[in-house]
Amino acid sequence: MIYPIVKYGQPVLEQSAQPITEFDTPELHKLIEDMFESMYAARGVGLAAPQIGIGKRVAVIDISTGEDPAQKIVLINPRIVARDGSQTGEEGCLSLPTFREPVTRANRVTVRARDAKGAEFEMTGEDLLARAFQHETDHLNGTLYISYVSPLKRDLIRRKIRKLQKNGEWG
Ligand code: NI
Repeated sequence: MIYPIVKYGQPVLEQSAQPITEFDTPELHKLIEDMFESMYAARGVGLAAPQIGIGKRVAVIDISTGEDPAQKIVLINPRIVARDGSQTGEEGCLSLPTFREPVTRANRVTVRARDAKGAEFEMTGEDLLARAFQHETDHLNGTLYISYVSPLKRDLIRRKIRKLQKNGEWG
């Protein structure tokens, strides 16, 4: 099932999501499947459950955008446990469509998470994958990338969004 993507302004995006406590359930497998489907439909490389209105600590990532099944990553209850270096690059978010801003983040991070069956694992990523780990883990803590842009830029983005909302062009 393809969910509509929740846009900036909805409280669920700025709340800390709840940890998953029951693993390997049909509901959890279905949620993960729906999240991949919704992410591919929206042409994203990452999606966190709050972005489909579900306040749970689940995120999916595929930086190959569906080209390589081996690159599908599921992160449940993830935590960043190591960070190294820095990268600055344009970042966007499906919940803030049309906006992109340069954001500085760690260049190499290790994430510790559980898979759908509850097994804990660690994975280290660099560059875009490291960015995705940080961006999606942030989502589960209620943090959006615009927290990292200058206050001036952030106000400008908010003003533009308010205008879009007024015109009924923002969901
Ligand atoms: Ni995002």
